[in-house]
Amino acid sequence: MKENIILIGFMGAGKTSVGQQLARQQNCSFLDIDEYIEKRAGMAVSQIFEIQGEEAFRRMETESLRELAGNCRGCVISVGGGLPVREENRKLLKQLGTVIYLRVMPKTVEERLKGDKTRPMLQGGDSGERIRTLLAFRNPLYEEAADHILDADGKTVKKILEEIRAL
Ligand code: S3P
Repeated sequence: MKENIILIGFMGAGKTSVGQQLARQQNCSFLDIDEYIEKRAGMAVSQIFEIQGEEAFRRMETESLRELAGNCRGCVISVGGGLPVREENRKLLKQLGTVIYLRVMPKTVEERLKGDKTRPMLQGGDSGERIRTLLAFRNPLYEEAADHILDADGKTVKKILEEIRAL
């Protein structure tokens, strides 16, 4: 594998699970941008949102992407659900490697993230409504950023890996 593979998609799409397994299969490094940010900041994403606010977190996402663009070769990288929203980030993603969008429907996200407390974007109020609105807004941006789109609803990680291999 010459270039990086980047997994994008909404929260709960399975980017991290798929990315970890894909990297294992390809015998290459796996990098999760949320984890990268957490290590650098010394705190969880939810704490960054709480203490420094969403904008600060979004800046960290762009900085991390810039750093990785110069350093990563042949890695599998998964990025947070909000990262492709910034136009600048979509451009950086293109430079970084092949972008695969794991597309899911709001219902899948709701089922998978029921009771989740780690995602600040979905806390408070009607999370179902929030998922539908955010996903409808982001979907065209994910599609724009993607080289390949893969529908992930109802599929196991194994099945998604097979489909990625077939690309
Ligand atoms: C976010 C998604 C999260 C994380 C942060 C914001 C978003 O990552 O980056 O909570 O705005 O969609 P996952 O997509 O890995 O859950």
